[in-house]
Amino acid sequence: MDFKYVEVNKEEEIAVVKLNRPEKLNTLNLEGLRELLEVFTVLERDDTVKTVVLTGAGEKAFSAGADIKKMEKMSFQEARVFSILGHEVTKKIENLNKPVIAAINGYALGGGCELALACDLRVASENVRIGQPEINLGIIPGWGGTQRLSRLVGLSKAKMLIYTGKVLNAEEALEIGLVDLVVKKEELMSKVMELAKEITNKSSLILSFVKKALNEGFNMDLNRGCELETELFSLCFSTEDHKEGMEAFLEKRKPEFKGK
Ligand code: HXC
Repeated sequence: MDFKYVEVNKEEEIAVVKLNRPEKLNTLNLEGLRELLEVFTVLERDDTVKTVVLTGAGEKAFSAGADIKKMEKMSFQEARVFSILGHEVTKKIENLNKPVIAAINGYALGGGCELALACDLRVASENVRIGQPEINLGIIPGWGGTQRLSRLVGLSKAKMLIYTGKVLNAEEALEIGLVDLVVKKEELMSKVMELAKEITNKSSLILSFVKKALNEGFNMDLNRGCELETELFSLCFSTEDHKEGMEAFLEKRKPEFKGK
């Protein structure tokens, strides 16, 4: 895949998607969003990819968000299109049939934070600066920040962050659960790849079931969520991987999952 704003590399069964506009802190314009959508659409269909890592090129940023220069002159209609496309991208990431880990290597602001929020897990380097500073530009988050941030850290903390535009450091982000893990800057990619490999060793099919149960169940009431869990739990019993997992346990060996 050859793109202007996004780079994709495969390391065994892990795809590393890099936002690639480091001179502008990996900010995103319409073209960058379209590229990201295409990348994740292709990765979704690629059975050789089991886990995806999303990160930013360069030393300073995961992404400083949407391109303010491009947004400055946007009309109401253009802003709407920009928001809708960003939502398509974040939904695609959120609902991807495989786990996506954000490796947050510095600034994750506005749309950058929103991209990270759409991922399954967030690992940050010590120098992370993360938040939703849109209020300072006279706008509100537009790629899911008002929805996913509150679901992740709670409504009140989300309001605190979005009303003030406060940018959090690693310790603060970890404390409220906005990131899951903080690691040394130079160890970010090795730690994330370690985590990705650990997940990749599981059954990709069963992971897709459990991601669905967690994500869809989170937006349901408890009873419906539990019903969904029962459906997906039962579905595991129609797979080869569940046989392999249980046989391996009983034979005291490591399972070899095939994603079937
Ligand atoms: C356009 C940006 C940018 C942005 C950085 N740059 N962020 N350009 N849009 N969001 C550009 C700078 O203009 C500069 O270009 C280059 O990247 C390097 O940035 P500097 O500001 O020189 O770096 P530094 O002094 O280290 O400051 C880093 C920073 C600051 C704290 C991250 O750049 C910053 O505050 N950026 C804005 C962050 C922000 O508000 N993001 C939210 C955007 S709104 P030149 O050409 O001068 O070298 C959003 C909404 C999403 O994301 C939803 C839309 C629907």
